[in-house]
Amino acid sequence: MSPEVFSNIILEWYSLHKRDLPWRNTQNPYIIWLSEIILQQTRVAQGMPYFEKYVENYPSIQDLALAPEDEVMRLWQGLGYYSRARNLHACAKDIHYKYGGKFPGNFEELIKLKGVGNYTAAAIASFAFGEAVAVVDGNVFRVLSRVFGIAEDIASGRGKRKFEEFANKIIPRQNPGEYNQAIMEFGALQCVPKNPDCSSCPLKQSCYALNRGMVDLLPVKSKK
Ligand code: ADE
Repeated sequence: MSPEVFSNIILEWYSLHKRDLPWRNTQNPYIIWLSEIILQQTRVAQGMPYFEKYVENYPSIQDLALAPEDEVMRLWQGLGYYSRARNLHACAKDIHYKYGGKFPGNFEELIKLKGVGNYTAAAIASFAFGEAVAVVDGNVFRVLSRVFGIAEDIASGRGKRKFEEFANKIIPRQNPGEYNQAIMEFGALQCVPKNPDCSSCPLKQSCYALNRGMVDLLPVKSKK
């Protein structure tokens, strides 16, 4: 299956099945960044009230940068991985004081920010700025591995890089942000880890794993 056919099917599926999530109705890099930091290692249902609380208390990056540290940390209570909250505040202050209050506008610059790794930089660059850089998370590993039959070990650095390379090769130049949201959503709702309902899948004709009885074997994840 060509990348164009794949992305069109994913985008069509997304238009029919996507959840209406508040951070999807904006191109504001601050709001997108905030949502992605909160959603690291966190489920949507758990992160949502925190997202709403932070947006309400700090509508702009300036508000967050100028907020007292203990208040920013207090709002995070219950969400875990508290280094995220410390990085969140440090990053907001850096953007306020060192970047003139303006979010960097591309992947290369975004990745230099505190607490922003490959995944988050790609999310902000594509969702806010339309840059064609692939987000690669657990959902994306699973979808690409099954559909295209990629058996690289996602627990290894080498394997992860292979997936990133492949994902960046097939990402459409048009609408890369929408496509990134779509493939993640497809992995979260349709191509789920256990007992996916392949009979309702729009990719069932051409899915490598389904057609070879390998859905439960892909992606490959070695125990370490
Ligand atoms: N998990 C991490 N980022 C997400 C996003 N943008 N939408 C839904 N779930 C997510």
